[in-house]
Order: sequence, then C-alpha cells, then structure tokens
Amino acid sequence: KAERLAAVGELAGGVAHEINNPLMIILGQVHLLFQSQDSEAMLNGLRIIDGATKRAADIIRDLMLFAEHFPLRPSRCRVADQIRHVLEVQKGRLDVHHVEVHTRIEETPEIWADAARLQEAFFHLIQNAEQAMVAAHGGGRLAIRVGASGFGVRIEVADNGPGIPPEDLPRIFNPFFTTKAPGEGRGLGLSVAYSVVAEHEGRLWAENRPDGGAVFIVELPIGTPATEAPLAAAGGQV
Ligand SMILES: Nc1ncnc2c1ncn2[C@@H]1O[C@H](COP(=O)(O)OP(=O)(O)OP(=O)(O)O)[C@@H](O)[C@H]1O
Ligand SMILES: [Mg+2]
Repeated sequence: KAERLAAVGELAGGVAHEINNPLMIILGQVHLLFQSQDSEAMLNGLRIIDGATKRAADIIRDLMLFAEHFPLRPSRCRVADQIRHVLEVQKGRLDVHHVEVHTRIEETPEIWADAARLQEAFFHLIQNAEQAMVAAHGGGRLAIRVGASGFGVRIEVADNGPGIPPEDLPRIFNPFFTTKAPGEGRGLGLSVAYSVVAEHEGRLWAENRPDGGAVFIVELPIGTPATEAPLAAAGGQV
C-alpha cells in the first residue's frame, strides 16, 4: 500500500512538473506579447507558445497511452517476428551507437496479441538498453532471447550496461521515474511497456545480471482471440 501511494505521489508530481514547465513558458510569452509592438517579436513569441503547447500535448498523449486502456486488437502473432521487426527499424541507430545485437530465437507457439503494442513494448526495452550502454561505455552488447516457457513465451532483453541500482529496482516501472537528464528521458518508456504486457496478462520484470548489466524479462501467455470476448460472446449466444 505504501509503495502504491508513493507511486501515485510520484505520478502526480511528475505530471504537475511536466505540465507546469510548458505552462510557465506560455504564461511568460503571453506577458511579453501583451507589451510587444514588434511583429517579428510577436511571431517569435507565438512560435515558443506553439512549441510549449505541443510539448504539453505530447505528455498528455503519452499518459493516455497507459491510463486509457485502448482496447487490444489481438491477432495470431509470432513474438520473434515482432522483435525482428523492431530490431530492423532500429538497426541504423544501433549500428551508429556501436551496439552489437545478438539474438537467440527458439521455436515458440504463436500467441494472441496486439502486434503493434508488443512492438511498442519491445522498442522501449531496446531503447533503454541502448541508452544505458551508450551512456556507460559508448556502446555494448544487446542480447535478445525468445523461447517457450510454461507460461507461453518468454523474452529476455539483456545488455552489458551499468545495470540498475538495487534501490531503483522497485521504482523503474513507475510513470515519470527517470535517472536521465531533463530532455533525455521522461520516465515513461517502462511504464508503457509494463502496461502493454499487463494488458496481455503477461509479466514484466527486471534483474541485474551476475556478470553486469540489466535484463528485462517478459512472459506472455498464449492468450485468447479477443480480450472483451467473454461478455460479448455470452450476450451473442443468448
Ligand atoms: N537497461 C537498463 N539499464 C539500466 N537502467 C535502466 C535500463 N532500463 C531502464 N533503466 C532505468 O529505468 C529508468 C526508467 O526507464 P523508462 O524507460 O521508464 O524511462 P526513461 O528511459 O528514463 O525515459 P523515456 O523512456 O520516457 O525516454 C531509466 O531512467 C533508468 O534509470
Ligand atoms: Mg526509456
């Protein structure tokens, strides 16, 4: 309970802070505009207001991603294909940042999942691994494993970055928890990934590897064709 309350406090504080910054910028510019006669200066002020408004809107959109529970659109889906797709799209950036990618993909059952949302979750895990390794030593080794588990499919995303300080482990999935500089991270990636996995009734957690670096483990169940099916189907059969 205490942990949950702390998470809610962190969320509220994060939203307040993230929205307050652009609001203060807008307010400041409006004050200047009231006094300004110069059309060039006014245009510039409006541009700044435009940017700050978009930033606030972005934050709200990210928040809604995990607050609003967009209905899942599950289809038969091969987890390995989703991982490969994300890696392909990121390949250019990973290369430039000297991140070597190793994959070990075993035969796994197909699952029912929302492919686009799964890709989003994997993207955030891969991006975090990359950022952690690049910040620590300008690159590294990203190891991704996909295999069957008793639960369904198990995915491991491992890096050889600095790992996660033990005191941070309980908080990394909280919205707005970040150790990155302002502008570099908003602390939303893992909370989005977590909610995607939770929506699939799967599990996501992080561990530090004995030989250094972090590993994020995702377990996804085989699932069913549609999440809201039970009620709708029952209604349809009467
Ligand atoms: N692979 C990793 N290695 C070390 N620390 C990590 C790793 N992944 C996540 N973290 C820690 O968890 C924090 C939260 O991650 P999260 O993805 O939610 O936010 P972010 O990456 O800081 O910002 P955003 O994803 O919004 O750009 C990070 O700031 C970092 O401290
Ligand atoms: Mg992130």
